[in-house]
Amino acid sequence: MPPYWSLGFQLCRYGYKNLEHIQNVVDGMRNYNIPQDVQYADIDYMERQLDFTLDHTNFHGLPAYFRQLQDEGMKTIIILDPAISKNETNYPAWDRGVQMDVWIKNEDQSGPAYGKVWPEYADEFLPGKMENASWDFQVENYRSLVGFPDFLKPSTHDWWHEQIVDFYNDPTEGIRFDGIWIDMNEPANFIPGNYDPTTNSGKCENNIWNNPDYTPWVMGDLYSKTICMDAHQEGTDGTTYRHYDVHNLYGWSQTPTTLRSARVATGKRSIVVTRSTFPGSGKSGGHWLGDNTSKWDHLHKSIIGMLEFNLFGIPYIGADICGFWGEPDREMCWRWMQLGAFYPYSRNHNQKDVIAEQDPSAWGPEFAEASRAVLLTRYRLLPYLYTLFYEAHTKGSTVVRPLLHEFRTDRNAWTIDRQFLWGPALLISPVLEQGVTSVTAYMPDARWFDYYTDSEVSSSSRGSNMTIPCDMNCIPLHVRGGYIIPTQEPATNTKTSRQNKFEMLVVLNDDESAEGRLFWDDGESADTIESGDYLLLELRANMGGFTTIVTHKGYQPDSTTTIGSVKVLGLKSTVGDVKLDGVSTSRYTYRQNVLHITGMNLDLAVNHEIRWSKTTSAAVHLIPARWQLLFVFAVLCALLT
Ligand code: GLC
Repeated sequence: MPPYWSLGFQLCRYGYKNLEHIQNVVDGMRNYNIPQDVQYADIDYMERQLDFTLDHTNFHGLPAYFRQLQDEGMKTIIILDPAISKNETNYPAWDRGVQMDVWIKNEDQSGPAYGKVWPEYADEFLPGKMENASWDFQVENYRSLVGFPDFLKPSTHDWWHEQIVDFYNDPTEGIRFDGIWIDMNEPANFIPGNYDPTTNSGKCENNIWNNPDYTPWVMGDLYSKTICMDAHQEGTDGTTYRHYDVHNLYGWSQTPTTLRSARVATGKRSIVVTRSTFPGSGKSGGHWLGDNTSKWDHLHKSIIGMLEFNLFGIPYIGADICGFWGEPDREMCWRWMQLGAFYPYSRNHNQKDVIAEQDPSAWGPEFAEASRAVLLTRYRLLPYLYTLFYEAHTKGSTVVRPLLHEFRTDRNAWTIDRQFLWGPALLISPVLEQGVTSVTAYMPDARWFDYYTDSEVSSSSRGSNMTIPCDMNCIPLHVRGGYIIPTQEPATNTKTSRQNKFEMLVVLNDDESAEGRLFWDDGESADTIESGDYLLLELRANMGGFTTIVTHKGYQPDSTTTIGSVKVLGLKSTVGDVKLDGVSTSRYTYRQNVLHITGMNLDLAVNHEIRWSKTTSAAVHLIPARWQLLFVFAVLCALLT
């Protein structure tokens, strides 16, 4: 179950030059009041990209700054790569790894299977370094040898845990992160196979493991960009494996142990995002769709990837918003911010050599305002998204779904991959092309309402395409009849938004009924579902009323976090005489089939019943009940004088 904050908007880039660079980005977000929950540090924060170190020249103040952000209600995530340099003096990550025998070994087990990934040798060992030499030349000549921890092995878990917890607590080097991003864990290697001193590059024996008769589609050989397939790995109780048999389990085996360590270090629920996954990874990690490109067609591709990963049981998923490689285009990035606001994992991330800053504050006030607006919509909907994650956590359901999963017999829905749903009830139809100011959206056969205007989609559009005008400030959202969507007044981070009032959006179906759920807990303690420290509400509505039924009461929210309003869409006759837990209230309006009851303060942890009756006159409820009373009073006064 991801922590609540991890559903907030997140900002990252590779190539932050120094702490000031990060501070400027966060300040930019704040100047425009754009929601942000998480700030990242990529490998730039490390000394020469060595795990568990801090670059004291450029990022000396980072630990203190991250603590400041945490005090201000934000969270932080740091990157860790698996490959550890052996060419250092007094480097505990390597030295302890040797002592604890954690490295994947070469075929004859004579030593670690070395590769080359990030860390370079220290500057003093690189006189005359040729910055313009080819990538391969630089990797071969300037990069350290690295060992790859064997995460199938129990002693590796102990070693990794020790490194993570020590780093978290280290008073001079350490960073008090809230979550961990694990990368390069295919495992990636910039030389082909294990290091060979004679060529200074990679090499593997010609055998059936490294060069099988039949290879799947890979770049070059099976060991290209990774280690040799005949490398030796060990599991529990002396079990041994060839890397060939467990290659695809590398990220899978690293993820749960990283999450456990993060939870111990932080003392809270945490999150791990991993680049390499396998079925089962979703139990302990989320995923981003890897190094994508700042190109229009990657918006569409990201929807397909997001839908696929939900099927793989990894619902915490998103793509690098605005693209990783390549210079982003303003309009593309703008539209991508709108789409990415509906990724379960919503993170804008950029590559090092890209000149442009692509965070939403970098493009001027209009762009910032559009991003702010769409992210506020996301934040308003977070209680619904969080409840979907509760369902996924407890039942293995999907969070983001293709239309065909909800409308299985509708053949038209089978091929739709430019629109998607959050759970059963929220239809997202983003703009995915340049210069476009309308969206052709397929509306499956159901009652649908425009999320922004509350107006009902014409029944003639059911089961057909609908053209929706969509300027640069628009991403069409529709809510489906039959569902109740718990929402909450938004804020610029979830720490604040979680204290705001809930708003229940009741969307009636053709039979004028609807149902939904709300899962709520403190959002950050570990294992609240297992320990029962949560609230679960069943939400029900029909043409005569709305009820909340507390089916699990193990958490009491703050006194401010009450149900403040209920909006009912799709009533077929005029209603009046609204009673709140048996007491008449005048704080409601009824306009164009929308009943809006406001000004409430209902304890979330108690059952409630709101009832209304059908009335005959439509006109009388076009104005709020309290103004009606005032009007009657004024008429009486006029008559009396
Ligand atoms: C890899 C990751 C990318 C990251 C970079 C530097 O390319 O996929 O997200 O920014 O490494 O750590």
